[in-house]
Amino acid sequence: MFFTFALISLVSSAVAQDLGVPLSWRELNNSRPLAERITIAQGAINEMTAQLDASTGEFNGLGYWQSGNVFSVLANQDHLAGTTTNQALVQNNLKLVFGLWPHYDQFGVSHYLRCVRYNDDAMWWAQAALYGYRAHGDAQLLANALDVWTHVTGYVITPADAAAGNQPNKDFAIESTCNGTRRQLPSLGRAPDRGLNPVATMAGGVFWRPTTDDTSVNSITTGLYITLSAFLAEYTGNATYTNAAILSANWIKSHNINADDLVLDTVDAADCTTSPATWLFTYNTGKYIEGLSVLAAVTGDSQWSTLMINILNAGVKTTVWQGTNGVITEGASPTSDNDGVGFKAVFIRGLHEAFTRSPNNSALQILIHSYGDVQYNALLELAANGSTYSSSWLGPPQAFTSWGQLAALDVLTSNIDTN
Ligand SMILES: *[C@@H]1O[C@H](CO)[C@@H](O)[C@H](O)[C@H]1NC(C)=O
Ligand SMILES: *[C@@H]1O[C@H](CO)[C@@H](O)[C@H](O)[C@H]1NC(C)=O
Ligand SMILES: *[C@@H]1O[C@H](CO)[C@@H](O)[C@H](O)[C@H]1NC(C)=O
Ligand SMILES: *[C@@H]1O[C@H](CO)[C@@H](O)[C@H](O)[C@H]1NC(C)=O
Ligand SMILES: *[C@@H]1O[C@H](CO)[C@@H](O)[C@H](O)[C@H]1NC(C)=O
Repeated sequence: MFFTFALISLVSSAVAQDLGVPLSWRELNNSRPLAERITIAQGAINEMTAQLDASTGEFNGLGYWQSGNVFSVLANQDHLAGTTTNQALVQNNLKLVFGLWPHYDQFGVSHYLRCVRYNDDAMWWAQAALYGYRAHGDAQLLANALDVWTHVTGYVITPADAAAGNQPNKDFAIESTCNGTRRQLPSLGRAPDRGLNPVATMAGGVFWRPTTDDTSVNSITTGLYITLSAFLAEYTGNATYTNAAILSANWIKSHNINADDLVLDTVDAADCTTSPATWLFTYNTGKYIEGLSVLAAVTGDSQWSTLMINILNAGVKTTVWQGTNGVITEGASPTSDNDGVGFKAVFIRGLHEAFTRSPNNSALQILIHSYGDVQYNALLELAANGSTYSSSWLGPPQAFTSWGQLAALDVLTSNIDTN
């Protein structure tokens, strides 16, 4: 069905955005039937779950946030395949880890051997709990996600905080506005330089870490918060969550999108300095796409779907993280795990959410379908060794690694739908 649509779209999809599928992409269709796609994805999951440490709820060879993402795929696999194969693993382990770490807020040991906590870590697990709730309807998982939302809400910059220049959980003065704004030191004897752009309020930004002196507000933490808020709005109908999602969606929109429609990384709330323009990672764009997709559905406000489509179109076509053949090259790390290996899975999951939330936009669906098949075919043809996959999607195949497997799982599961 999609193959036919794809041919039509190549000639007819230049309305506001050109959502046409690049002809340079490698193999943009796959003819495997649904049952086989389900089997391939579950087979890969089974290789991953063999690495579960039953005492911690984490997987050998993965970081804490990455382990949370494995449970997201397990839940989504059941949701898309209509199975209950992974239900017990999802429910038991998401409850175990919540019991080990209140608010899923792990005190992890950083590279600098300091005990650190991350708001995004807590929300990766809360996100898995929400997918678990969606797949299997376990109210305890919804309650866990709500608990994390309430906890992280303490690290959101409210409109009142921005106006006051203070945030109750931080021990430094925050900038009220950034983007084009850089407060000059009084000793320079100049009025604050408001720069060239209109100033934008810092309200809605979410601090990356709970530590009182950590000044970073970043897109992944804010994007996760948007997504959690939008899902909670959908499940509860409570406008508090809708308003939280809108406030934070506006923060990314006015502070952290580059001229090519890709989502940037970090803004320093103490002085408005930003991460380098070259810090462009799939997961920042992917998580924002997911959050906007759900927010558009919850609010019915087309500004969010329009923004989502622009960013998605940019994300699947940029050469920052893929070649002209369309295969993602970010996070190819055959010999060791690192955070970046896990990013592309988050991007693919965001595209899947956009796909399911856009039933009436066939050009967008064809684009996502084609992009998903490019990754799927690369994994199966270039990077597979049995049911295990290299994190280098262009290959070569290699022996099993936990991080290569993690990176592949979302492609295989998403393709149950998007193929
Ligand atoms: C793509 O579609 C063509 C035409 O139906 C088919 O011959 C080919 O096998 C498909 N590619 C894959 C990888 O399934
Ligand atoms: C809506 O959610 C907020 C935040 O969790 C909560 O404080 C409030 O009581 C909820 N309202 C209703 C009507 O449940
Ligand atoms: C800063 O604001 C301008 C004007 O609203 C906007 O076009 C630009 O995208 C913003 N910059 C970032 C990095 O979001
Ligand atoms: C898609 O279009 C149908 C028919 O016009 C409409 O009933 C439905 O609400 C639309 N769905 C979305 C998500 O916009
Ligand atoms: C495939 O995996 C097996 C088992 O992990 C390993 O022994 C073998 O070397 C791998 N094959 C390739 C081509 O790396």
